[in-house]
Amino acid sequence: MPRVFSGIQPTGEPHIGNYFGAMRNYVALGEQYGKNSIYCVVDLHAPTNPAAFDPALLAARTLDMAVANFAAGLDPQKVIFFVQSHVREHAELGWLFTLLTPVGELERMTQYKDKAQKLESTPAGLLMYPVLQAADILLYKADTVPVGEDQVQHIELTREIARKFNHAYGETFPEPRAVLAEGALRIPGVDGQGKMSKSKGEASTLGILEPLESIWQKLRVAPTDPARVRRTDPGDPDKCLVGDYHKLFSDAETVAEVYAGCRTAGIGCVDCKKKLMVGIGAHLGPIQERAAALQADPDYVRDALAQGAREARAIAQPIMEEARERVGFLRL
Ligand code: TYM
Repeated sequence: MPRVFSGIQPTGEPHIGNYFGAMRNYVALGEQYGKNSIYCVVDLHAPTNPAAFDPALLAARTLDMAVANFAAGLDPQKVIFFVQSHVREHAELGWLFTLLTPVGELERMTQYKDKAQKLESTPAGLLMYPVLQAADILLYKADTVPVGEDQVQHIELTREIARKFNHAYGETFPEPRAVLAEGALRIPGVDGQGKMSKSKGEASTLGILEPLESIWQKLRVAPTDPARVRRTDPGDPDKCLVGDYHKLFSDAETVAEVYAGCRTAGIGCVDCKKKLMVGIGAHLGPIQERAAALQADPDYVRDALAQGAREARAIAQPIMEEARERVGFLRL
């Protein structure tokens, strides 16, 4: 049976890019593979980007990320869901992998380049970020990694690290592959400035737990096809983020209707956005209700995370021990 692993950073409320790009696949794979699907709030990764990090908020955001995933349909009784820093072996295996990873390869990672160029001084941890990510995955010998397209390069590096370790110390780790959500590879930000991203701030994101009124305020002013200057101009829904969002949230009939309406100027952008809000409400309403119930029961969430950490450790510790032996550390 495949073993699934994925991680999500507690750097802010999850948005619809995280949800459609990754979290929905966590749920689907969890249904299929039960306790062989392992998900983690990667709190060790979060501080690698000082620009997006706030120590006063880290613990609360970690809990919020668990709540959001449970509300989105992940059942901690069925899958393994835990917090990265609760399983110390992640950092230990990460260190072993730094020994095998050329700095030059890390400097070529696009996410590193994007983030480093915005910083005055680059922490070494930001450069090592994908090495720790490789350790996250391989600590469970996972072979299946549901992620958005922006993580594919990191999964490629994970494969390389597994190959290098196996070559140096003998066959130990599988070479995992990324599983992408079809039709949700790279969800655009609502500000029209490229990919939706937590690190770009609230103007870019539609949070899955964001009040619908606040979502509407962002959507109302969101850019549409720039060629459609007047209401009477026909538009191209394939060049419009509202068109993209309809494909995620609306039923096939509504998508066909608004796409045809846009092309013939039969529907205006405001009405098209209002129709989108119906789909958004239908999707996010129940998630938000479940989240409210979970927020009212923090003990349930904490207990679930403690249980998840125990289950994760039970898998990780023997694999870490195997890696220590392979590398040749003195065992007593
Ligand atoms: P993070 O927290 O940035 O994002 C979590 C997941 O959401 C996906 N995603 C998107 N998908 C489609 N469109 C978007 N606009 C969009 N924005 C984000 C991401 O691809 C990701 O799958 N490095 C990881 C965390 C991590 C990890 C791991 C993942 C740490 N260790 C091990 C897999 C396996 C990250 O930054 O996720």
